[in-house]
Amino acid sequence: MSKASQLAVEMTDITKGFNGVPVLRQVGFELEVGEVHALAGENGAGKSTLMKILQGVYQRDGGEVRVLGELAGLTDTFAARAAGIGMVFQEFSLVPTLTVWQNIFLTAEPLGKLGFIDDATARQKAKAIFEDMGVSVDVTSVLENLPTALWQLTEIAKALAQNARVLIMDEPTASLAKHETTALFELIERLKSRGISIIYISHRMDEVYRVADRITVLRDGQNALTAKLSEVTPAQIVEAIVGRKMSGNLTYADRGDEISTDVVLSVSGLASGTRVSNVSFDLHRGEILGLAGLMGSGRTELVNTLFGIDRATAGRVEIDGKVATIRNPGQAIANGLALIPEDRRAQGLVLDHSVEENLTLPLLGGLKVGPLLSGSKIVARAREMISTFSIKVADQKMPVTKLSGGNQQKVVIGKWLGTNPSILMMDEPTAGVDIGTKQEILAMVRDIAKQGKAVILISSELPELLSVSDRILVLRDGEVARNLSRSEIPSEEFLQLAVQGA
Ligand SMILES: Nc1ncnc2c1ncn2[C@@H]1O[C@H](COP(=O)(O)OP(=O)(O)OP(=O)(O)O)[C@@H](O)[C@H]1O
Ligand SMILES: [Mg+2]
Repeated sequence: MSKASQLAVEMTDITKGFNGVPVLRQVGFELEVGEVHALAGENGAGKSTLMKILQGVYQRDGGEVRVLGELAGLTDTFAARAAGIGMVFQEFSLVPTLTVWQNIFLTAEPLGKLGFIDDATARQKAKAIFEDMGVSVDVTSVLENLPTALWQLTEIAKALAQNARVLIMDEPTASLAKHETTALFELIERLKSRGISIIYISHRMDEVYRVADRITVLRDGQNALTAKLSEVTPAQIVEAIVGRKMSGNLTYADRGDEISTDVVLSVSGLASGTRVSNVSFDLHRGEILGLAGLMGSGRTELVNTLFGIDRATAGRVEIDGKVATIRNPGQAIANGLALIPEDRRAQGLVLDHSVEENLTLPLLGGLKVGPLLSGSKIVARAREMISTFSIKVADQKMPVTKLSGGNQQKVVIGKWLGTNPSILMMDEPTAGVDIGTKQEILAMVRDIAKQGKAVILISSELPELLSVSDRILVLRDGEVARNLSRSEIPSEEFLQLAVQGA
């Protein structure tokens, strides 16, 4: 094979099943050297499974893999790394309590020919890798004190330190602010020009067009489409993803009449440390309130404070006209609040419990609410929610860790709706879910409001926020910068400017 035509990765006829259920059926995938190849498909389509095979996390049942022309066994993660395959985003492999440089060199095997290296050298090398990436960061910072964007960059640096030739990015921008996303895309360009090949998993069409050369779509564990992005339309991609033509539902319908004048939640002068300050607003029965703002503007902190996860240091919260004291999530739930958290893996699920248990037991810090369900009711309730949310799971007794990322998200949503809250707060509920599910979630949000409940919705995707919100609070530096009713917002650009502080 000539060098020019050599592929970075060539996967042929890959099959994989779990407990007899086929998840990948004769899937083919190729990646050219220096190419960015997007991988798309519905939640549960098999994207992460295919990539885990490439990383040596899962063993394929059949098929062949070549990395840079060489047949690769990929019998474990060490073998994959040795073949030049690097990291993933959906699950971090980092240790939060260690520094950036320690994380980069934290590895079981000796590095290259050097063997184990001393701390000073490791620090120096880490610094050099970041400089090379064009990223400025103090490598002696402890990771947990840094924003998510830097966790990702640390993952990339770690892979590069291990001489990765192929990088797998699974939903890399799911929790990034706009400027961080831009920086990531610039980094991708630089990596490409150095001959690094990238597999880019994403549910966001705009990003795919922006960074990728080609796209492969999987549907139900099979190849549905591979095309150059310059030769395929978004509608064709969506059709390949969902298997049918789809009409979007991103237009706002004025529902002024449906919103009552009853104030269900009244917040005045609320503060929490330095992250939330002097926040005041009213939320009405039947109203959907969108929270817009940049990363770090205090949106998550605001809902966390209302839910008793973060401590309020000043201000007053009234629910149904009565002052409410909420010092922990238990008290929040007792007051009719529910929060679907942003970091759903860490906060929303008990990972080693079954899908069924996660759906039916709203456990938080060991607290049980609502009437206890009997065994058979649990089974029935779980089955109902699985069908309502089209959660893709072979067996509801399966541990929730075995679900695909997007399906785990649906379990979290289903679980909190099961508590029948009067005020539902959702933090980026559509991050990581496929395009069809996104529509389902938005329809569900509208439905909840119709039932006379109130919703607070955080989303970084402005079209989405604009399509459901009756009112939007724009937060900046922990404060309410604007409080706009939907009719006061003429366009997405207008809201974008408000968010940017222009
Ligand atoms: N370890 C496992 N045991 C059993 N089933 C599994 C396991 N890992 C994945 N699956 C199943 O394989 C299917 C494909 O999952 P996968 O994680 O590859 O989907 P995905 O395309 O990455 O979806 P998402 O967009 O939601 O991340 C799902 O039905 C999932 O439940
Ligand atoms: Mg996945």
